[in-house]
Amino acid sequence: MSKIIAMAGKGGVGKTTVSALVTRYFTKHQKEPLLAIDADPNSNLGETLGLDIKKTVGDIREDFMKDPQGVPAGMDKILYLEMLMNQVLIEEKSFDLLVMGRQEGQGCYCMVNNILNRFADELESNYKYLLVDNEAGMEHLSRRTSGKVDILLMVTDYALRGLRAVGRINEMLDDLKLDVKHKGLIVNRAPENLSKAFLGEVENIGIPILCTIPDDKNLLEFDMERRSVLEMEDDSPSVAAVRDMMEKVKEIIE
Ligand SMILES: Nc1ncnc2c1ncn2[C@@H]1O[C@H](COP(=O)(O)OP(=O)(O)OP(=O)(O)O)[C@@H](O)[C@H]1O
Ligand SMILES: [Mg+2]
Repeated sequence: MSKIIAMAGKGGVGKTTVSALVTRYFTKHQKEPLLAIDADPNSNLGETLGLDIKKTVGDIREDFMKDPQGVPAGMDKILYLEMLMNQVLIEEKSFDLLVMGRQEGQGCYCMVNNILNRFADELESNYKYLLVDNEAGMEHLSRRTSGKVDILLMVTDYALRGLRAVGRINEMLDDLKLDVKHKGLIVNRAPENLSKAFLGEVENIGIPILCTIPDDKNLLEFDMERRSVLEMEDDSPSVAAVRDMMEKVKEIIE
């Protein structure tokens, strides 16, 4: 079964950045195949990885619902949808990316959703590792068939508000019926020494700090120049921090 690494955290704290850095880690240090899933309706993981995203799973669903008769003559509906899904999958040398795009709107999408979900499940079983970049609400995770997450990486910035959001997500997890095996806290844009107040709040929430990532000016530069995070140097502070973190993550979830 694939090992599932998923992101959670308040808006703008660095979930997509960490996802891109984790993907970079896989391209450099891990030979097993990775499927990265961009589950944020405002998808931007692809962009962060320097990829041009033309179509999402949501687009397929919308197109199909708009024109259910658009299936080519003589072709089975299921085969047709699966063919479209294959076109959405972006295949890179050392990882693949699936962009979910918009969530379903009003109306009954049951049949299409079932087909798309079944395809996604089958696809996922081909990878040793899955990485899910979520929007703050974690809609996607709660809708997955298996509901299993091997490690939930909860990202906060160096602010009590970010940390409290992690606390709220943590409390919400039970209602989501997710089977989360491990949790780790990532303090992003952290100073060298965390304050007592911050550490006290971490203790209250009860999720161990897995990693602190310093503010990395290279990330800003790459973002401004629209360069892929995959091209960042090994000794860039955020790259080094995520490498150390991933060594721990692998041990935890193996
Ligand atoms: N350690 C860091 N050093 C410098 N800049 C950073 C760092 N982490 C994130 N950023 C920058 O902060 C911005 C927001 O990060 P990001 O998009 O990863 O957050 P997010 O949690 O995915 O946001 P959203 O909830 O909107 O999806 C980006 O411009 C990113 O480049
Ligand atoms: Mg994001």
